[in-house]
Amino acid sequence: EDIQLLKELKVNHYLLSISWPRILPTGIKTEQVNEKGIEFYNNTINSLLENKIIPIVILYYWDLPQVLQEKYSGWQNISMINYFNDYADLCFENFGDSVKHWITFSNPWAVAEEGYETGKHAPGMRLSASGAYKAAHHIIKAHAKVWHSYNKRWRRKQQGMVGISLTSAWGEPVDLSNPKDIEAAETYVQFYLGWFANPIFSGDYPEIMKNYIGRKSTQQGPGMSRLPTFSAQEKSYIKGTSDFLGIGHFTTRYITHKNYPSLQGASYHTDRDLAELVDPKWPDPGSKWLYSVPWGFRRLLNFVKTQYGNPLIYVTENGVSEKAQCPQLCDEWRMEYLKDYINEMLKAINDGVNVRGYTAWSLLDKFEWKEGYSARFGLYYVDFNNENKLRYPKASVQYYKKIIGANGFPNAREVHSWYQKATETCSTTNRLLAAEPLTTHMEMVTEIVVPTVFTLCILISAVLLMFLLRKHSL
Ligand SMILES: *[C@@H]1O[C@H](CO)[C@@H](O)[C@H](O)[C@H]1NC(C)=O
Repeated sequence: EDIQLLKELKVNHYLLSISWPRILPTGIKTEQVNEKGIEFYNNTINSLLENKIIPIVILYYWDLPQVLQEKYSGWQNISMINYFNDYADLCFENFGDSVKHWITFSNPWAVAEEGYETGKHAPGMRLSASGAYKAAHHIIKAHAKVWHSYNKRWRRKQQGMVGISLTSAWGEPVDLSNPKDIEAAETYVQFYLGWFANPIFSGDYPEIMKNYIGRKSTQQGPGMSRLPTFSAQEKSYIKGTSDFLGIGHFTTRYITHKNYPSLQGASYHTDRDLAELVDPKWPDPGSKWLYSVPWGFRRLLNFVKTQYGNPLIYVTENGVSEKAQCPQLCDEWRMEYLKDYINEMLKAINDGVNVRGYTAWSLLDKFEWKEGYSARFGLYYVDFNNENKLRYPKASVQYYKKIIGANGFPNAREVHSWYQKATETCSTTNRLLAAEPLTTHMEMVTEIVVPTVFTLCILISAVLLMFLLRKHSL
């Protein structure tokens, strides 16, 4: 059914991820392969292709097999590289005839930084100072190994591409005439995007990262940095291992220089010597970190072009959530966001950035990390309380469909009419949805009230009967 929604939207590709533990329950190929998992993804991929939708498949989007975390500390452990490579190879073997676009990792920044340093996200490890750097080091090596595996064993036969998808905000200097702010903004983006992109496209961590972390690694002794190093051999093994670059992008920050004394607890955050600011005038329709700053997108894309030799880019994630607690199908803010961001992407294409695909985030409302179901990013509203998890189109469905149909924006008048039509249709579906809580309420009534009334009736009859019997015996 969801693939039918994609078909109606007229998208030509769909991004999905394969769950490692669903294929390998213990994470390790030699231990157990779940054929049902493989069958599930085969059906999904085939069904997409039958509907002329190109599957872009992510191998790792956060779901590390739990056993690997509990027994071996997950990405802190270098053996993850081989386990992941075995899993990826199994995927190439089973799905590679149909899948031609592979993404090894999506948003590894968050895995490393929020998973192993701040502990904000799964697996929730708080390993300040070096946890994130170590996890990232292993992830980068695992990515390179998988790319080489594909290159050696599968590329000639399957003719596909293997890349990585990196999520990054843009950092703009607060004061453009202050060299310290300019360096701070550069540092922000290098620690975010460059951390992964630089080794993969240029062969090593960004100079800024090496300098900053090295300078602050005083406890480790002279010449020792908390940032791991690549050997010369590893550098050349890792360089050039992405056939395209996936970009996830949502928001922008103003950046100013801020000195953190070395005595303070060392961490990824304090290593950067900067502070992040936002303009209170920026719209923030959804999650509290997500300000709509479309021009930042164009700058980030141009940064990728100049830094990494104008690689082929697929935008893998771009979109906005919503604050509304009640169902709100008239999502004007999402239409605005998509229009403005896509427009800035088109400007970047005019600038010569090699963007070849765009993916809105996301098709459906879904589970958003520790926010659970409360942060709704979907073009389709999902009624999670309903046992069938019914989907309702938000206004942005109609609007996005028009953008896809025209492959951009033909002229202001027409674009405005799309907007108006979309808001008209959503108000009728809104009424439908508003009526729905009533039916779920009625179900509750039948579930609770009917048995209660029934029980009461029996009790009253029993009392009456006792009363009558006693009267009779008297
Ligand atoms: C890393 O994983 C291996 C298994 O591949 C295990 O033998 C080793 O003890 C693990 N190391 C740590 C520090 O957990």
